[in-house]
Amino acid sequence: MAYAWTKDLETGNSLIDTQHQQLITAINELLNACSSGQGKDVINKTLDFLENYTAKHFGDEEVLQIKYQYPDYLNHKSLHENFKKFVKELAIQIKKDGPTAGLISKVSFGVGDWLINHIKKEDTKVAGHIRSKGN
Ligand SMILES: [Fe+2]
Repeated sequence: MAYAWTKDLETGNSLIDTQHQQLITAINELLNACSSGQGKDVINKTLDFLENYTAKHFGDEEVLQIKYQYPDYLNHKSLHENFKKFVKELAIQIKKDGPTAGLISKVSFGVGDWLINHIKKEDTKVAGHIRSKGN
């Protein structure tokens, strides 16, 4: 199943939205590589990209939160930290065991669904806060 970028995922902050689209693409590429029977090299590349890009995106989002004194920063940061840890451990497992059905479902539920939910529930609040500061 591929994740689609839909209007309700738009936060209205162009940097955040562009990076979210890229993350969704990265998740789809990983799912695609796993389900189409690609070799280790291709799968590992998509895993590395997802892991690195997640860290970059969260870092950029946290810089914005600090800049605009987002009141829920600490909680939001800890959500990011937990997710980064989850992706890191999942990547290690997939690299070790290959894309088993159980691990692919973790990519969907633990990564894809988590991100969609996080965008709708948390990142829209961040973007709203930045807007309320006149940006
Ligand atoms: Fe976030």
